[in-house]
Amino acid sequence: MRLSDAAKARRPALLRSLAPLLQEEGMLWLAGGLPSPLAFPIEQVHLTLKHGVQVDITEPATIAKSQQYMLDSGGWGYAPLLEWLRAHVAEQHRPQYDEWGVLVSAGNADAMQRVWETLLNPGDTLLIEELSFAFSISALRPWTHARGLHVECVPLTPRGIDGHALDALLSDWEAKRPGARFPRVLFLVPQGQNPSGADLEEPELRHIYDVCRRHDVSIVEDDPCAARNSGAQFGAQFSNAHHHTLFRYRYLHFGDATAPPSKAAPPPGLRGLRRSFLSVDTDGRVIRMDSFSKWIAPGLRMGFISGPKPILTKLAQGAPPGMNVAAFMQVLLHSMLTAWGAAGLERHLGELQLAYRHRCAVALAAMDEHLTGVAEWRAPQTGMFVWVRLPVVSSLALMDELKRAKVAVVPGAFFASDPEGSKSPFVRLSFAYATDDDIKEGIRRLGALLRAGTPAESSAWNLWGLL
Ligand SMILES: Cc1ncc(COP(=O)(O)O)c(C=O)c1O
Repeated sequence: MRLSDAAKARRPALLRSLAPLLQEEGMLWLAGGLPSPLAFPIEQVHLTLKHGVQVDITEPATIAKSQQYMLDSGGWGYAPLLEWLRAHVAEQHRPQYDEWGVLVSAGNADAMQRVWETLLNPGDTLLIEELSFAFSISALRPWTHARGLHVECVPLTPRGIDGHALDALLSDWEAKRPGARFPRVLFLVPQGQNPSGADLEEPELRHIYDVCRRHDVSIVEDDPCAARNSGAQFGAQFSNAHHHTLFRYRYLHFGDATAPPSKAAPPPGLRGLRRSFLSVDTDGRVIRMDSFSKWIAPGLRMGFISGPKPILTKLAQGAPPGMNVAAFMQVLLHSMLTAWGAAGLERHLGELQLAYRHRCAVALAAMDEHLTGVAEWRAPQTGMFVWVRLPVVSSLALMDELKRAKVAVVPGAFFASDPEGSKSPFVRLSFAYATDDDIKEGIRRLGALLRAGTPAESSAWNLWGLL
């Protein structure tokens, strides 16, 4: 994996090199700007989680640590949390090489910025999926507009990013993209692709890994949902049939939303999770970004990055030691995970998976009732979203009317690499946040608006060659 010139220039922060002295028996600490614990107002933490689970942080050393700069593990994160994360990654992904590590992040948006700074030089080329999470696109704008980054979109298929198109592009790069630098990094959301919902099956995932290996391209996998689950069922063509959902997706997979509750499979919890690029990586070319945002709480701003240790070392050096991820949140998260234990975590995930299964079923039923004939969609297998095609050239044109009808959805163009210059007939509907009644009413209003005479234009936008 190639480091950016900026990352090569990084050195361990000089002050950080003194941190281990703090732990030495008898050391008189007259160094470093650590505030006195006298400044720390919190004496104890007692929290009650759902189902009455108690989290008590009372040990004076732990309480003090949670309010101090986090200097554990060379700035990689709170040592007990890192231990938990390492065991979790080992169990979930079984990395195949020895020199892998885990680093605490403040969620995937934070991780992404740090990864770009660590892997990309101005003027480089970055490969991304033709549709990508809207915030990733926004975060790349300073790179594309001020640092000469060339973003190259790889087509999506119903089964995720198109490995054959990727191979063809890389094999013939000079001829196809004369003058553009050969790409060294592929960024993708391999499961529950946002917004299309595509999931990479294992054969496709392995194929893409092999293509990247052959062309010496590194892979950055963003799995914010190692909790989010927005897989979709793809057929030979758009269909409203959503009766064959499959188990897939990490953490929040909820199974068949249309099966009667008595027949539905139990929620998978942490079991049966899908392959990741990290799990097939044999030579340290994958950086994986996970987040607690979608399965615990985004307000905690907690996540983790796993991959080759030398790269993580540079990533760690890219942030001021102990000053980027809140020590308090690290201690709190670790205490919550410990208070839950494996069974509590399974229960928490299982409940969330069931809730999403239910909401998805509500959304699909409402769509059948109100959108049949005026919109097309693929039923999600998992997750938070349905990706819906409307009978318009650009769904942006509907945004004002939707706003007046008090319905908020995300227009498809927001997910294009050039959102300003793109037209998309799609919208992304989320069923995760709204109540059952609001989901039904929102979809009813959308249907009414579409039936009230929105011109049925045929669209030039053909995302997957299927429509
Ligand atoms: C694909 C993708 N990447 C990254 C993020 C950011 O997540 P976090 O809250 O961990 O920063 C999200 C959040 O929705 C997402 O969907």
